[in-house]
Amino acid sequence: MTEHFSGGDEKTAAKLVSHEEYLDVYTTILDIHWDTGLWYIDTHAGTGKTIVNDNGLTIDGSAIQAIENYSDYFERFYLYELSEDHFHKLHETLADRFRLEFDVYETPSEDHDFLVAACDNPYIRIMQMDSNEGVNFLAEHSRSNPHWFAFIDPKGLTAKRSTLDTLLERGNVDILLNYQSTGVMRSAAAEHSRDAVRRTMGDDEWPRAGSAEEYVQLFKEKLDENRAIRPVLTKDLVSPHDERCRFDLVFACKNDGARNAMEDIMNQDTLWEKASNRMGQSGLGDFV
Ligand SMILES: C[S@@+](CC[C@H](N)C(=O)[O-])C[C@H]1O[C@@H](n2cnc3c(N)ncnc32)[C@H](O)[C@@H]1O
Repeated sequence: MTEHFSGGDEKTAAKLVSHEEYLDVYTTILDIHWDTGLWYIDTHAGTGKTIVNDNGLTIDGSAIQAIENYSDYFERFYLYELSEDHFHKLHETLADRFRLEFDVYETPSEDHDFLVAACDNPYIRIMQMDSNEGVNFLAEHSRSNPHWFAFIDPKGLTAKRSTLDTLLERGNVDILLNYQSTGVMRSAAAEHSRDAVRRTMGDDEWPRAGSAEEYVQLFKEKLDENRAIRPVLTKDLVSPHDERCRFDLVFACKNDGARNAMEDIMNQDTLWEKASNRMGQSGLGDFV
């Protein structure tokens, strides 16, 4: 049986606290001011849960959080997952958790067939495909007036800058991205992985031996060139118990009120306390 996605730690929990607290703000602000529908887009949806320690303890992931608390607000959920095993684990996990039924089928496309798991109430489409392709297709072929919350949570350098540009060009979108700062730094230093850095940064204008901080600031500056969504916010995430790897949350939106709220979420004193509580609680929950 496929295991849940593995490799999380406190920064995974801190990321998910920020994701959930921002969804509260987003659904409150947008529900009042946007009358043509809200869509939730999760480009790297995972398996539904993440294993966060060596004992196999799990915490609920982004898709569960969004569906559990906000299915009354979002008209549609689009979840993308490239791995076939993770795709199946995800629809099975959501079906168990929320007592949903998914119709799973193969859809032909120009390049290759892909799997879809579809549920109509709430409207959820899980697509087993590269989200860089999926998001481009969705932006091109769907109505332009729903407002999107796009959560981009890759492992490694699998989120292309061109996908972000597609989202920004479409407009009507708030974006929360988990930027792989240490991963970019390490890849930039190695000749064989520079293509991945180029795809992530969107161009070749970056140092070959920068610090994690330099790469994320440069990425922020590149996004800030789009004046409609600036200033882009960033927040470094480094686990108190493992400082070797750094992520940065990157947030872009047009609305000043929403941006201020996200700034408060990112800079709150209690983020790590909440993250470790979440891990502690999930630990107990796994044994009952
Ligand atoms: C960090 S995990 C996602 C965790 C999830 N957001 C959560 O909170 O539970 C990253 C996932 O992205 C998937 N993935 C990797 N490259 C992808 C791509 N190009 N498109 C869609 N999914 C991808 C991986 O298989 C993995 O399951």
